[in-house]
Amino acid sequence: MSKISFTASPIGIFDSGYGGLTILDKIRKELPEYDFLYLGDNARTPYGTRSYDVVYKFTLQCVEYLFRQGCHLVILACNTASAKALRTIQQNDLPKIDPLRRVLGVIRPTAEEIGKYTKTNHIGLFGTEGTVKSNSYPLEIQKLFPEIKVVSEACPMWVPLIENNEHLDAGADFFVKKHTKNLMSADSKIDTVILGCTHYPLLKSKIEKELPTNVTVISQGEIVAKSLADYLHRHPEIDEKCSKNGRTRYLTTENPEKFSSSASIFLADDIVAEHVEVE
Ligand code: DGL
Repeated sequence: MSKISFTASPIGIFDSGYGGLTILDKIRKELPEYDFLYLGDNARTPYGTRSYDVVYKFTLQCVEYLFRQGCHLVILACNTASAKALRTIQQNDLPKIDPLRRVLGVIRPTAEEIGKYTKTNHIGLFGTEGTVKSNSYPLEIQKLFPEIKVVSEACPMWVPLIENNEHLDAGADFFVKKHTKNLMSADSKIDTVILGCTHYPLLKSKIEKELPTNVTVISQGEIVAKSLADYLHRHPEIDEKCSKNGRTRYLTTENPEKFSSSASIFLADDIVAEHVEVE
């Protein structure tokens, strides 16, 4: 039987900007031998306040760009894109573009793990306006753990604070206090909080300080990394298409020098970014 030939390629990691670097960081620790192609759509960030149609269109353009670079597997390392675009891309676009390629998100793996953490079955979610309005987390969690109640809080100022490197300053405290207070006032039984935006791990210590000490704060990076390793193990037909030289390239739709300097807030690496046009 003849074997279909292919060229092994990096795993594509996509985010609206820098947030996906917190996921890439953990994925590389879990899968150090793999190659990665990171794409940040910095020219059009933030996605969190944009409509469904716009997030879907931008995300699809970026996924198609990564496919044109050869990626067989793309991870949407962005909750907003996972919430608003992933399902449509998987169900409507992939069968037409190339049914052998795969696009995975960050919401499902997080939902799968969350039952392990809560004892009260009351969970809080911090996310962008888009992620919260999509209701994707409560819906995914309900499918797997119908007994868990999810209360969501949109935090529209957190991404701009982080992107402007203001998140460690006193000014950020006001917005952290505001949203942690709103969440706990909505449900005082919450014992587990999901940071449902890939930027938010940078605010984790401030968030933990404002929440009661019995509340566990969950960042997604390690969960997504372990879930990806497991996926590749279960899908050798995808795994064999992933190149493994331990290299990462960084692409941005904005200014590459700005990307290289700002990316260091998110990831300790020598980053030299390249500018690309995805449209
Ligand atoms: N990092 C993205 C997420 O996980 C949000 C950033 C944005 O608003 O573009 O949702």
